[in-house]
Amino acid sequence: MPFERACALAEVPDDQALAVTIGAYEVAVARHEDEVFAVENICSHAAVALSEGDVEDCTVECWLHGSRFDLRTGKPTGLPATEPVATFPVDVRDGDVYVDTDTTLNGVTPQ
Ligand code: FES
Repeated sequence: MPFERACALAEVPDDQALAVTIGAYEVAVARHEDEVFAVENICSHAAVALSEGDVEDCTVECWLHGSRFDLRTGKPTGLPATEPVATFPVDVRDGDVYVDTDTTLNGVTPQ
């Protein structure tokens, strides 16, 4: 079953990510303007939930050491993280957000 319902679009705040469990993965769902993104909800630097950080300019910040991850690519925009986080395909239908955790958009294997 590729796309699974993650949440209602209205549940995703503008400035934070929403933590959702989909299958075996913890996913952080976030929005930037009209676009919705899903990244694995674990910082690539240490086991910290990215959903606890702020979302700004299409990035999510890790609250622990301040690396920001681009929601489109999963890549960190600054140190100390150097590795990208997995990004998952998202589909928005009828006001609901669906995420496919069978594959990643950026080829990064989820942790
Ligand atoms: S744990 Fe996220 S930047 Fe260090």
